[in-house]
Amino acid sequence: MIGIYMSGTGNTKHCVGKLLSVIDPKAEMIPIESEESADKIRQSDMVLLAFPTQFSNVPFMVKDFIRRNSEIWKDKKIFCMTTMGAFSGDGAGCAARLLRKYGAKIIGGLHVRMPDAVCDNKMLKKSLEENKRIVREADKKIEAVGRKIVNEGIYPQDGLSFMAHLAGLFGQRLWFYGKTAHYSDKLKISEDCVGCGICANNCPMGNLKIVDGKAVADNKCAMCYRCISHCPKQAITLLGKEVVEQCRYDRYC
Ligand SMILES: Cc1cc2nc3c(=O)[nH]c(=O)nc-3n(C[C@H](O)[C@H](O)[C@H](O)COP(=O)(O)O)c2cc1C
Repeated sequence: MIGIYMSGTGNTKHCVGKLLSVIDPKAEMIPIESEESADKIRQSDMVLLAFPTQFSNVPFMVKDFIRRNSEIWKDKKIFCMTTMGAFSGDGAGCAARLLRKYGAKIIGGLHVRMPDAVCDNKMLKKSLEENKRIVREADKKIEAVGRKIVNEGIYPQDGLSFMAHLAGLFGQRLWFYGKTAHYSDKLKISEDCVGCGICANNCPMGNLKIVDGKAVADNKCAMCYRCISHCPKQAITLLGKEVVEQCRYDRYC
């Protein structure tokens, strides 16, 4: 198995590492933005594909990757995993339906609740202790899932049922579909930017660069919140107007 993941604030990366440590400790894990990710998938029979839920859907960056590499999925066994702050309905199912179009065989789906990553919105924000508890619960769930796979060969089917599809669709996706239909051009950089370049170095899309000592964003933001959660001046926002908390997995573990 190989683990391919998108992860902005580190939640999904952590969950992939945790699951692989139980089911296939020698398996490689590679960020989706890596130049070798498509080739690594070509060379593997089985893929754990993981991403954060965005608006009860698959992030556009992941959909774009799947479509751009449409020929690599045929007959691959894919285990879809999504992490979410509260609810995704059929997050894993959204990726599964797209992958099936290209001939993939879906062997399972896993939904894991993790701390919310939206740094510039108060909704869903929890105390440090509560976020730590959420991470511990997530680890427990992943370990139990991993043991079931290893001992009984049974994969979870989170998000793959018709009922989950309805929950995801009517729970949120229907109203927010447009948000994951393209990359975003809404990244805002404030006067407080000192041009340190941390955002540009971290962006998985190469969407940020430093021009005349200030960060400048292009129109290919994956909405991953990695730059926002790392900016030392809290100068970057996307969905909200100011940073309320720089959410990062490494603060909650
Ligand atoms: C743009 C955006 C949209 C999100 N939408 C949802 C959502 O619809 N439901 C949910 O439960 N969590 C949502 N989240 C929270 C993330 O899915 C969650 O925090 C995830 O674990 C982040 O993973 P990462 O650190 O690997 O990027 C959203 C996060 C972002 C940045």
